[in-house]
Amino acid sequence: MSESDVQEGHRFPAPEQLAAQANVGADVYAEAERDRLAFWESAARRLSWAQEWDQVLDWSNPPFAKWFVGGKLNIAYNCVDRHVEDGHGEQVAYHWEGEPGDTRTITYAQLKDEVCKAANALLELGVQAGDRVAVYMPMIPEAVVAMLACARIGAVHMVVFGGFSSDALASRITDSGAVVVVTSDGGYRRGAPSALKPAVDEAVARTDSVRNVLVVRRTEQDVEWTEGRDLWWHDVVDRQSTEHTPEAFDAEHPLYIMYTSGTTAKPKGILHTSGGYLTQVAYSHWASFDLKPDTDVFWTSADIGWVTGHSYIVYGPLANRATSIMYEGTPETPHRGRWFEIIEKYGVTILYTAPTVIRTFMKWGEDVPAGFDLSSLRVLGSVGEPINPEAWLWYHKNIGGGRCPIVDTWWQTETGAHMINPLPGVTDLKPGSAQTPFPGISAKVVDDEGNELGDDTTGLLVLTEPWPSMLRTIWGDDDRYVDTYWSRFGTEVYFAGDGAKKDDDGDIWLLGRVDDVMNVSGHRISTTEVESSLVAHPAVAEAAVVGASDPTTGQGIVAFVILRGSAEDSGDELVQTLRTHVARDIGPIAKPRQIMVVQELPKTRSGKIMRRLLRDIAENRELGDVTTLTDSSVMNLIKDKLPANS
Ligand code: WT7
Repeated sequence: MSESDVQEGHRFPAPEQLAAQANVGADVYAEAERDRLAFWESAARRLSWAQEWDQVLDWSNPPFAKWFVGGKLNIAYNCVDRHVEDGHGEQVAYHWEGEPGDTRTITYAQLKDEVCKAANALLELGVQAGDRVAVYMPMIPEAVVAMLACARIGAVHMVVFGGFSSDALASRITDSGAVVVVTSDGGYRRGAPSALKPAVDEAVARTDSVRNVLVVRRTEQDVEWTEGRDLWWHDVVDRQSTEHTPEAFDAEHPLYIMYTSGTTAKPKGILHTSGGYLTQVAYSHWASFDLKPDTDVFWTSADIGWVTGHSYIVYGPLANRATSIMYEGTPETPHRGRWFEIIEKYGVTILYTAPTVIRTFMKWGEDVPAGFDLSSLRVLGSVGEPINPEAWLWYHKNIGGGRCPIVDTWWQTETGAHMINPLPGVTDLKPGSAQTPFPGISAKVVDDEGNELGDDTTGLLVLTEPWPSMLRTIWGDDDRYVDTYWSRFGTEVYFAGDGAKKDDDGDIWLLGRVDDVMNVSGHRISTTEVESSLVAHPAVAEAAVVGASDPTTGQGIVAFVILRGSAEDSGDELVQTLRTHVARDIGPIAKPRQIMVVQELPKTRSGKIMRRLLRDIAENRELGDVTTLTDSSVMNLIKDKLPANS
């Protein structure tokens, strides 16, 4: 298939054999349409409830939703114990692959024992239902065990991506009030041990809620030790009993907090609860990927520190009794074929990854995947940003062997689970479009006033009905929850922050963020967060940050800075210092691709920085309309300062 096929509207129909045996067929849309709540109710019945609900949805106080009101369940029991009770204890839950090549195989029975031991350990440390537990871990099985142990005893986990800085960890610990941090000495990245414990030590020293730090030994690096506070996982967890009776919690009991960037410098603690969340992640994992628990080998390549890891490495796959892959390291270690080697070795049948990874593979060339047997694959997934048709076609041909449907899934940390995506046994695929709202989901494209738009008109994406895995609030800040998501078009319409259009067939195309949030390699970073980090540096007086389109990462961070009069140096060295400063402050993913030192920034008469114009510069485009600038010569000044190639 070539790109011209796509331009001519070429579609990729569902493979016949897959369609004939698919978990869900086309009738699912009509069924959900007929009675949305009955549809979600039957999805909830795929789980095991200790007590049935009295009401499917309570939306009497929008935007505060309650799903499966009165129902009770234990999340860990649903993810682990019930499969063991059903005679599947010997089935592999995770094939874990460490970056150095060490491996572990964990069956459902073993996972149950580990989760019970960790739950007993947390109880021994005084953790109670409702308490928050921070998890700052590499991609090792104990990260999953820690999450499930929290869920089992009703504690709320708050996983912080291991690539985030001690600052980021400290502010999340403070905001959530975590009482325990689970971490490890380090993990392996790019062929070397990378330490985690020092960042925990720094973070905990600046917070006052943490009583204990539970440390898994992974890399054997030397670690600082605070007696009385720090405990080795192998000392405390290993000696616990493998028996623990799960207690049933309310369907709306908090399950986890996951921080994500918004339009201000302060990340938002997105709160997810239990029954509705597990219902939708489990159902969507089963329907979107056509997951067959007895035969599939499922791999989500994300890190557990992101929502993709929560929903599609941990909760969805385990609730569906999937066998999953968990890989610790980077795709190029020790060689560029590492992922393909893993697919071949374990016979991976479903691969769920991000467009930025596909574009990196494209750069490395098709010879790399061609060197491995990838014939086990049958369904492919994509998440994190729009997948450009070129990357879609490359993925389809070079990884999917031309036979695997690609399920492009649009969703967010806030939505908890898939919201707009094709179904692999149903949809005629259209490269580049996420296409269709998931069954039971109502998505629309509207103009600034909230009027629904017709074909091919660009507007804003909104969700017009509540859904089971929706966020319930922003931790500790109901007002911000209402303001951010439910005020633009009234309290019953969710504003996603994405631009979108519907084409002639009614398929939805996502067009990226419309707010000051960047998407770098599928990760959300706020321009304001990077700006405040830059101005915190003594050399910087003012900063403006934009996301400029980038062939590999989707967007790249480009910063414009005005230096203080006292700054001694304005050259390359300072630019490097500032880049490193941001990486240390927020995390390496926030390191600006480029920093330009300028004399002035373009501002409107009301003093707002015109990011649009800076984006034009960063993307090397003709400048747009400059008439609203206070001083239009500013742009010439900036352009004159630029190096020739940017
Ligand atoms: C933002 C959410 C969902 C887990 C990963 C990111 C963008 C995500 C797609 C897609 C187009 C996408 C949106 C969204 N996004 N998936 N398939 N097509 N855009 O989660 O960090 O909460 O970011 O990622 O802009 O709003 P997140």
